[in-house]
Amino acid sequence: MMAMGVSTEDQLRERIAALDAELGERRREAEVKERQLERYAADLRETFKEERTRAQELRRSYMLTVRALASAVEARDAYTGRHAERVAAYGLKLAEAYGMRLADHPEIEFGFILHDAGKVAVPDAILFKPGPLTTAERLIMQQHPVTGWEIVRDIEFLGAARDVIRHHHERWDGTGYPDGLAGDAIPLSARIFAVADTFDALTTNRPYRQASTTASARDIIQQGVGTHFDPAVIEAFATLPDAVLERIRLEIG
Ligand SMILES: [Fe+2]
Repeated sequence: MMAMGVSTEDQLRERIAALDAELGERRREAEVKERQLERYAADLRETFKEERTRAQELRRSYMLTVRALASAVEARDAYTGRHAERVAAYGLKLAEAYGMRLADHPEIEFGFILHDAGKVAVPDAILFKPGPLTTAERLIMQQHPVTGWEIVRDIEFLGAARDVIRHHHERWDGTGYPDGLAGDAIPLSARIFAVADTFDALTTNRPYRQASTTASARDIIQQGVGTHFDPAVIEAFATLPDAVLERIRLEIG
């Protein structure tokens, strides 16, 4: 019995020692795995950082390209000055006020800046005519959204921005151009932009009229609710404080 007891105790001790050894081994394996995971996580973080930097650089170079193209259009028209930049700033504020998720569509800003790219094809005699346009001249002028869209349609990175270029002169009641779209059929970005564009046109000096004040521009825009403009966009526009709009006007002058 005694010999058996010692033997069992020895066996138990051996078993415990073996288990200890196994436990130690497993711990070492776990530590190795943990270090591997840490290295993997650090690699992922590094890759993510690099990707983000690359994406930012890409966006910066897209933006420079877009601005260069917009300047080429604007260089012809001394009256509108930095219209594209200003209207893009109004448009972004309005999109934000409307609750549009701009983070999901960062390219929309490109559309705001490039909206009139098609005006490169409008002859000077029409673009700069001081008086009212004839019907034939108006038809040529009204081709600029399609011309602009044709210029950019194959540029993939512009994505939904191309809608703004094609549809910024559509009207809520379907009487706009080029496609006579009505209501929700008009892309939201273009509905938002139409209000920003009109606000900028009204609050800028033109050879044939003085700039309106913010208040009177708001009144004029209000008269277009449901005919020219989307009522929901106008509601969002009403929530934008005058100070926000006037700061943009002052800064981008
Ligand atoms: Fe336009």
